[in-house]
Amino acid sequence: MEQREQWGSRAGFILAAVGSAIGLGNIWRYPYIAYENGGGAFLIPYLFALLTAGIPILILEYAVGQKMRGSAPLSFRRLRERWEWLGWWQVGISFFILTYYTVIVGWALSYTYFSIGQQWGNKPEEFLFGSYLGLTETGGNIWNLVGIKWGVFLPVAIIWAITFFILFRGIRRGIEVTTKILMPILVIVMIVITIRAVTLPGAAEGLNTLLQPDWKAMANPKVWVSAYGQIFFSLSIAFAIMITYASYLPKKSDLANNGFIAAFANSGFEFLAAFAVFGALGFLAQVQGVPVKEVAKAGIGLAFAVFPEIINQMPAWNDLFGVLFFGALTVAGLTSSISIAEVSITAIREKFNLTRTQAVSWVCGAGFFVSLLYTTYAGMGYLDIVDNFINNYSIVLAGLVEVVLLGWFFKLSTLRTHINGLSDIKIGTWWDVCLKVITPLVLITMSVLNVYNEVFVKYYGADDYTFSQVLVVGWGAALAALVIGFVFRALQWKGEEGLSQ
Ligand code: ALA
Repeated sequence: MEQREQWGSRAGFILAAVGSAIGLGNIWRYPYIAYENGGGAFLIPYLFALLTAGIPILILEYAVGQKMRGSAPLSFRRLRERWEWLGWWQVGISFFILTYYTVIVGWALSYTYFSIGQQWGNKPEEFLFGSYLGLTETGGNIWNLVGIKWGVFLPVAIIWAITFFILFRGIRRGIEVTTKILMPILVIVMIVITIRAVTLPGAAEGLNTLLQPDWKAMANPKVWVSAYGQIFFSLSIAFAIMITYASYLPKKSDLANNGFIAAFANSGFEFLAAFAVFGALGFLAQVQGVPVKEVAKAGIGLAFAVFPEIINQMPAWNDLFGVLFFGALTVAGLTSSISIAEVSITAIREKFNLTRTQAVSWVCGAGFFVSLLYTTYAGMGYLDIVDNFINNYSIVLAGLVEVVLLGWFFKLSTLRTHINGLSDIKIGTWWDVCLKVITPLVLITMSVLNVYNEVFVKYYGADDYTFSQVLVVGWGAALAALVIGFVFRALQWKGEEGLSQ
């Protein structure tokens, strides 16, 4: 077996980890989640989730990957042979995320191009759901695929090709080189965007809306659930990414400090993006003469319908602002996509003794094939449902199983000793308490609330999809990730690394 690849430098690893963390979740998910869940007061549950779950799990995953030197399945197998399935389940989850994440990055790429001359016209929302995605032609029925929307297919194919090329070049020459170049550029561009956004007329009102604390929201469990959900997705934890990346660290690597740096860099970027988005929303609200809350939309609509509208209204440099904003979204998404894909690549490489080229071809080939579903006219409907289920159930549950197994059925203190032997910052028993008690309690509450919300509130109320559609697509994807876990666990190890240590 050839020598395991390694990151070239500490900075290389940190930039790759931060590149994975900073993604679509930071730019359009965080600002809206913060606003919807108490505005300024959201900072309290957010910081609580970051300190009690985000950073402890991040450091835990670094330690597992770095000590066990394997993909998630191999690392869990080396901890306890019968835990391999958990690693494969997380691989399944990340594979599903990958298949739609690359599609959103593809949309961002299209919109970078559309920014030149504002090709979305003066009704960006109609353009998005009509001309661009073609959703309106399905008649509101997601079973009616209509066909491939070639205008969506093309950018998605380009994103897959770039992803393939970077990963084909490997950890050091591919991922590390890419993130070392792109991450500093991304941060500079985001600072430029933020300065422009907060100096637009009306921006102050947008920032007020974002920051005004609604203390009552703190008593609502949903707000706490959202904070934990945001931290998990944003830090790329509980879906095997950090275990995979850490498995390429040298034997002597600081773990705790790296964890703190990556987590705070991610949150810093999140706050920056929130200022940019709400500054720009304040401007739009002023132009339209409506309150900010009327222009603040969730998720896809915010980036791809509201932002084009903002760009249309900008007093000058419209093209440049558009290219920078959507370009930043594309780059942030791309550096996360490669990390999500690397999870499956490392996993199958080790289990089936494949070369990097073979593993990259399998993962990118299969991923691209599944992505095609999201490039159909009905694609956005599938994306919406799968994203909702994988985020609310699969990641949370996989995270819960991870902390329960490692916290209760494993001597966590051995990992803490390992971390402290390598790190400048020494972690204390607070880490054990967070992982053993606080995080499991919150995650159990979160799962119960999510199921309640799904069954009694969301899909029995007014929603865009029928119950059977949600059942087949949503629960189907969540279950499929679990089934992948057991199927791949059952397959024979071919790789030398699979031998028990
Ligand atoms: N952590 C990545 C994001 O925030 C997946 O988008």
